[in-house]
Amino acid sequence: MSHYPRWYYDEFKQIGVDYTDLEEVQAYDLRMQKLRDIESEFNNTQELLKIKNSDLILEIGTGTGELALKFSAHCRKVVAIDISKKMIDFAKMKAERQKKTNIEFYNAGFLTYENYDEPFDVIVTQLALHHLPDYWKMIALRRIYAMLKEGGKFYLRDVVFPSLTSDYDSYFNKIITDLKNSAGDKLAEETEIHIREEFSTLDWIMEGLLKNTGFCIEVVKFDGFIACYLCKK
Ligand SMILES: C[S@@+](CC[C@H](N)C(=O)[O-])C[C@H]1O[C@@H](n2cnc3c(N)ncnc32)[C@H](O)[C@@H]1O
Repeated sequence: MSHYPRWYYDEFKQIGVDYTDLEEVQAYDLRMQKLRDIESEFNNTQELLKIKNSDLILEIGTGTGELALKFSAHCRKVVAIDISKKMIDFAKMKAERQKKTNIEFYNAGFLTYENYDEPFDVIVTQLALHHLPDYWKMIALRRIYAMLKEGGKFYLRDVVFPSLTSDYDSYFNKIITDLKNSAGDKLAEETEIHIREEFSTLDWIMEGLLKNTGFCIEVVKFDGFIACYLCKK
C-alpha cells in the first residue's frame, strides 16, 4: 500500500471475522462445505453468466477458492484474488491437489489489484464487497468496470439489506434466532458480527452504486438478505 496516498482505504485491514488467521480459514472452509451446496451455487451462476471456454474470468474475494475451481473447468483462465494471504495459499493448495493449471492466484483486492493483461470477459465476486464502506464500494465498482471488456459481465452476490417499512430490530433478531436453530451458534455469531461491524448496505444504495458506475443491471434476485445482480458493461 506504500504508493497509495495516505487517505486511500487500507483494504488489507481485517473487518469483522479475521480471515488472516489460518484456523479461521480452515474452519470457514469446513463450515462452507457443510452448509453450502457449491455445485448448485455454481449452476445458478452459470445459468446467468453462460461462461464460454474462451472466457477470461476474474474472481475477487475468492476465499478458499471453491467457485474459482468450478469455473476453471469451463473457461480459458481464472484469475482469483483475495486480500487474505492465508485464504489465497489455502485456495492455491486445493487447486494444486486438483491439478488445475488454469487458475492464477494473487494476494490483492478490489482496490489494489492491477490487471496488466487483456480485459476480462467476466468478473465475479461473492460475499466480499460488503467488506468495503459505501464510498469505497463505488471505487471498487469503477475499477471492476474499467477491467471488463465492452459487453463484459459482472456478477455480484452479497449480503444486501432490504428496504423495510417495519422496524429493523425485529427483522435482524429473527434472522439471528432462525440461524441459531438452522445452522448453529457459530454462524449466528458471525452474522451478528457482520451486522454490527461489516459494511453491508441497503438494496437501493447498491442498485444506485451499480447504475452510477455505468452498469446495466440485467437480473436482480434476492434470497433472504443475499442478493445477486447480473450486470453488463
Ligand atoms: C465471507 S468470505 C467469502 C469467500 C468466498 N467468496 C465465498 O463465497 O466463500 C469473504 C472473503 O473476502 C475477502 N475480502 C475482504 N475484503 C476484501 C477486499 N477488499 N478485496 C478482496 N477480497 C476481500 C476476505 O479475505 C474473504 O476471503
